[in-house]
Amino acid sequence: MYTLYEADGHKNICVNDLSFAHMVDSNQHIIVHNNEAMLLDPGGHKIFTKLFTEITSLTSINNLKYIFFSHQDPDIIAAANGWLMTTSARGLLPEIWMRFITHFGVDKMVLNQITPIPDDGLAVNLGGCELKLIPAHFLHSPGNFQVYDPQARILYSGDLGASVGGKNQFVEDFDHHIQFMEGFHHRYMPGTKPLKMWVNTVRQLEIDTIAPQHGGVFAGPEMVQRFIDWVDSLECGFDRLGDSYPIP
Ligand SMILES: [Fe+2]
Ligand SMILES: [Fe+2]
Repeated sequence: MYTLYEADGHKNICVNDLSFAHMVDSNQHIIVHNNEAMLLDPGGHKIFTKLFTEITSLTSINNLKYIFFSHQDPDIIAAANGWLMTTSARGLLPEIWMRFITHFGVDKMVLNQITPIPDDGLAVNLGGCELKLIPAHFLHSPGNFQVYDPQARILYSGDLGASVGGKNQFVEDFDHHIQFMEGFHHRYMPGTKPLKMWVNTVRQLEIDTIAPQHGGVFAGPEMVQRFIDWVDSLECGFDRLGDSYPIP
C-alpha cells in the first residue's frame, strides 16, 4: 500500500500487494475525502478479505460510499456480490454491463444497489468532492470509464497504461518501462481511434498523476506528458492485424 496524494482531508491510496499465485498484479485504488471513500476496481474473491481490512484502516467501512467498476473483466468485478452484500456502498457500473453482471452471481437483492453509468459519463459527490467518471469506451472494453479526481489531479486510467512485470510503484524511467506495457496494449487495446479520442479528451484536463489498474503509476507533469504522447503514437489491436485469420 502506498500514497499517491494526501492533503486537506483528501487521500489517494494504492493497494498494490494483494495479488498472488497466477493472478495478474493489480492495483486497487482508494480515494478518501472528508472520511468518505470510493474503492476502484476491487478485483476478485481471493483478495476480498485483505482489501476489506485495508479500507477499515483508512475509514469506517460504513463510510465506503462508492465502489466503481470500470468494466466487466474478472479482475474488476468478480467479487462484486460480496462487496455489495457486506457494505452499504453504491456500485457504479457501465450501463451496458448491467444485464451481464448477474452472471457473476450478483443477487437480485443487491442489483438496485448499483447505479448504471450512462454512456456519456457521470459526476459523483464524495464527501463534497466531485469526481468525474469519464467515458473511455473501447479502452479496452466497449463499455469502460476512467475516474478523474480534480483535487488530487489524478486520472485513474484503468487498463490503459497497464504494465506487467515492471515497476509496480512510481515509474522512474519511461523508456525502460515501455517494454512492460507494449505487449498488453498491442493485444488488449483495439485500435488507434479510441486512443486518439482519449488523448483529445485528457489534454483538456489538469493531470499530475496517471494511475492504471495494473503496474507502475506515472507521476509528475513530465511522466504524464510522456505517457500521453506514447498513447498518441501507439499502434495496437486491429491496426496490427494481417489480411485473414489462420485456420488451425
Ligand atoms: Fe480489462
Ligand atoms: Fe485489468
